[in-house]
Amino acid sequence: MSRIAYVNGRYLPHRGAMVHVEDRGYQFADGVYEVCEVRGGRLIDERRHLARLKRSLDELRIRLPMSLAALGVVLREVIARNRIGYGAVYLQVTRGVARRDHGFPAPDVAPSLVVTARALNKARNEALAAQGIAVISLPDNRWGRVDIKSIGLLPNVLARQAALDQGAREAWFVDKDGAVTEGASTNAWIITGAGTVVTRPADHTILRGIARTVLFDVIKAQGLRLEERAFTLAEAYAAREAFVTAATQIVLPVVRIDGRAIGDGEPGPVATALRREFHRYAEIT
Ligand code: PDD
Repeated sequence: MSRIAYVNGRYLPHRGAMVHVEDRGYQFADGVYEVCEVRGGRLIDERRHLARLKRSLDELRIRLPMSLAALGVVLREVIARNRIGYGAVYLQVTRGVARRDHGFPAPDVAPSLVVTARALNKARNEALAAQGIAVISLPDNRWGRVDIKSIGLLPNVLARQAALDQGAREAWFVDKDGAVTEGASTNAWIITGAGTVVTRPADHTILRGIARTVLFDVIKAQGLRLEERAFTLAEAYAAREAFVTAATQIVLPVVRIDGRAIGDGEPGPVATALRREFHRYAEIT
């Protein structure tokens, strides 16, 4: 079965789905995106993802290409046309197609909208979670507004590749004070020796992950203590457990940071329980 992509009002064969060379996403990374998990053919946390999309667009003064309700219809149509049971749907909005000029184009230039979907291998994801991942750390060299889910991801791309080059799966960015901000495409968490779950507050220095928001409810329901505060790399090395969160990975245990074993070097019981419980608290529509 051939894959289908939505591009500016049309459902096209994925192979030939294209945007114009003058699209500002291509020219300037002048756009934003969202990635939602799909389970049983249904969207996970659509409402929160679309609310964050709206916020990102507002912060950048890019028009919403259609109502959030209409966007939801397109997302579902792409999921259905690609017959995705378990996977991810990707949505990107840019400031549109216009002659290359740094300033915003004329107000009548329509924003571009692209939606794609792909199946993921559930067994492989579960195996990865059962095994846990290694992460490396590196200085956070991103811009000051990473709370906006911009498609400008060059530092994230380079960080992820540095991790892969070192046999790790994710890179954690560290700020100038030695505190962990977040992963290249995940939020970062630790569990202290006292059993407190710690993650950085969602200010302008991290993306307010949707999985992160949902996990707050899971943590509360499990009766765990949560601290929203910055934690240092040294604290992470000494943590009982560590893990990352993101839409398509949910909770992924971290078993090594910079080559040092975290806890006993195996996925911990708390991260494992949080992963198991996650979808009882996510919104499925
Ligand atoms: N990444 N931090 C960054 C920098 C991210 O790129 C992401 C998501 C997250 C987690 O956000 P959420 O829980 O809403 O997925 C945190 C997506 C999945 C990506 O770029 O593919």
